[in-house]
Amino acid sequence: MTPRSQKPAARPPGFVYRENKRGILCRKGSFVLHCEDAPLSKLAEQYGTPLYVYSATMIRERYDAFDAAFRDVPHTICYSVKANSNLTILRMLARKGCGFDVVSGGELERVLAADRKAAKAVVFSGVGKTREELSAGLKAGIMLFNVESESELWALAECAGRLRKSAPVALRVNPDVAAETHPYISTGLRKHKFGVPIRDARALYANASGARYLKVRGVSVHIGSQITDVAPFGEAMARVADLVRELRGDGHRIDYIDAGGGLGIAYEKPYAQTFSADLAMYARALATPLRGLDVRLLLEPGRSIIGPSGILLTSVVYRKANDGKRFLVVDAAMNDLIRPALYGAYHEIIPVTQSVVSPAKIEVTDIVGPVCETGDFFARERELPLVDEGDLLAILDAGAYGMVLASNYNTRPRPAEVLVTGKSAKVIRRRERVSDLLRAEQ
Ligand code: LLP
Repeated sequence: MTPRSQKPAARPPGFVYRENKRGILCRKGSFVLHCEDAPLSKLAEQYGTPLYVYSATMIRERYDAFDAAFRDVPHTICYSVKANSNLTILRMLARKGCGFDVVSGGELERVLAADRKAAKAVVFSGVGKTREELSAGLKAGIMLFNVESESELWALAECAGRLRKSAPVALRVNPDVAAETHPYISTGLRKHKFGVPIRDARALYANASGARYLKVRGVSVHIGSQITDVAPFGEAMARVADLVRELRGDGHRIDYIDAGGGLGIAYEKPYAQTFSADLAMYARALATPLRGLDVRLLLEPGRSIIGPSGILLTSVVYRKANDGKRFLVVDAAMNDLIRPALYGAYHEIIPVTQSVVSPAKIEVTDIVGPVCETGDFFARERELPLVDEGDLLAILDAGAYGMVLASNYNTRPRPAEVLVTGKSAKVIRRRERVSDLLRAEQ
């Protein structure tokens, strides 16, 4: 028997190692990482690197799992467009009946471009919506404005009056609940800029109901992102449920509770298929405080649907060692995926090909990009099977807050994006060219 036992562990289910028996594009007798049935080595050859690769099946499955977890409560999933706003992905989700959470006029336009009819399932969040953006939402006939301040309430009333359209309103309340996550993406504490203090909400709802074109419809909350303990979600919901009872007592109509997004994913744990278990706990935490309330629950997941469904594929340009410290310089950089630089975020990185017979020697190395900043790294002091110059690496869990945060720093064109279904791969965003960047400046 050949010692096949060391087949590398499967990571997110859409990305698996398969044995390469034919020796096309990479060493015969190696395991090659695939996205669904497409070898990543082939995608790199065809489309170049750095390259974002998404599994369509995984996106659909994660959406379905999310939907199923809430089957016992009336609910609408409003996918958070900011996590990944590619038009093809939005279209795919819209076709499944998904609604959308947008935070800018630009995101609203994207949703409308993906599917005009999706407007009726759009919630509009964000602390600084301009009058232009509010008016665009009114014209599109969106489902709900999540209003974040008294000033915004009056701006919305003014725009709605001018257009003679009624504005469905929820106030985003700040529940003053602490959630364990990176401080940059925690939002539910009094000191954060988001929402209105829950104590002030009743008075503001009273004001809103006096405005002719504002229609109070719900309460909204979002406590942060990449939250892996579900208790704070339950705590926030319990406070919102109390508020809803009070508001109804005051005579307001509350059809919706918008629970926001924020469910975290397992970036660091050895990948186990815990999504359905996590979802079950999350659904229980949200639904329990709402028992008997008779409301429609709105959910705004971003990362939990798209994060593990995408990777960033990159090639090793150089190996180098400075005083014994090892570096792999790759062709992707902080401009392509800023999460490690910005939040010190961990992303698992694995070689695209691994030997079938002998597991490669492990080395400890930094994986860095070519940008002129020390912060331009993907991993530090990481254990990785030894790879050569020209080899491919996959940076995992890069589907959320990857491409959307990409920039042109160092005049680096942004990567292409490819969506895989089974064996077939489709370019859903072409690679940018330097000429695209120069054009806007001429
Ligand atoms: N709803 C609202 C109002 C939000 O602000 C966010 C995320 C979401 C929903 C979606 O949250 P999710 O389910 O994806 O956690 N760039 C950071 C994450 C920023 C999250 C901002 N708000 C990162 O890369 O970790």
